[in-house]
Amino acid sequence: MLTTDEYKKWLELKKHIHHTAIVEEGVKIGEGTKVWHYAHIRENAEIGRDCVIGKDVYIDHHVKIGNGCKIENGVSVFTGVTIEDNVLVGPNVTFTNDKYPRAFPHTWKVTPTFIHKGVGIGAGSMVICGVDIGIYALIGAGSVVTMDIPSYALAYGNPAKFISWICKCGQVRMDTQGKLCPDCCKKELQEMLSEENSY
Ligand SMILES: CC(C)(COP(=O)(O)OP(=O)(O)OC[C@H]1O[C@@H](n2cnc3c(N)ncnc32)[C@H](O)[C@@H]1OP(=O)(O)O)[C@@H](O)C(=O)NCCC(=O)NCCS
Ligand SMILES: [Zn+2]
Repeated sequence: MLTTDEYKKWLELKKHIHHTAIVEEGVKIGEGTKVWHYAHIRENAEIGRDCVIGKDVYIDHHVKIGNGCKIENGVSVFTGVTIEDNVLVGPNVTFTNDKYPRAFPHTWKVTPTFIHKGVGIGAGSMVICGVDIGIYALIGAGSVVTMDIPSYALAYGNPAKFISWICKCGQVRMDTQGKLCPDCCKKELQEMLSEENSY
């Protein structure tokens, strides 16, 4: 039985889930998250608040997605993939979870993949399981990610190779790892100060 507040929250949430979407048992979806046409979210998947789950997206069972993520149309996120906060996964990106796939019966194990906060993955890219994409890395469209990508790296190609360091905003290329452009620095500083003041 839901409390009135829980019921209100449920109603609020329901408005954002398109009626053609399939949301299985045990799924947790944060407030403000929108789930669009024909998306399929499998059992016990967890999606944070203020995300957009695009049309035809498939989210496998037990997948965890953080807050503020955009999972664009046609993306498949398979079990074993963890996506942290504020990640953009471009249209038709595919993740994998079986490193040595076979159709016939065999014992296979899920190979985990981690996409850290703030990462952007360009349209149509393929992420081979077992990789770790560091915070605010940017992957160019149509890439095949076969190895770990460091934080703040711009990488693209098949296989995706390091091209340069890139700022958190994704606009400015940097020559030193982790440095932000002046605009972002200012914003970061303001955010930090306002967080400190709120304690
Ligand atoms: C990677 C990216 C950010 C680079 O943008 P940029 O810094 O403006 O780079 P440029 O367009 O100036 O291209 C620089 C060079 O890299 C090449 N290049 C750019 N993107 C590439 C990619 N994804 N794969 C392979 N090569 C690429 C260009 O052909 C160019 O090559 P050249 O120097 O031989 O002429 C951009 O091309 C990209 O892929 N963005 C992702 C878009 C996307 O999928 N968004 C998803 C949401 S809609
Ligand atoms: Zn910047």
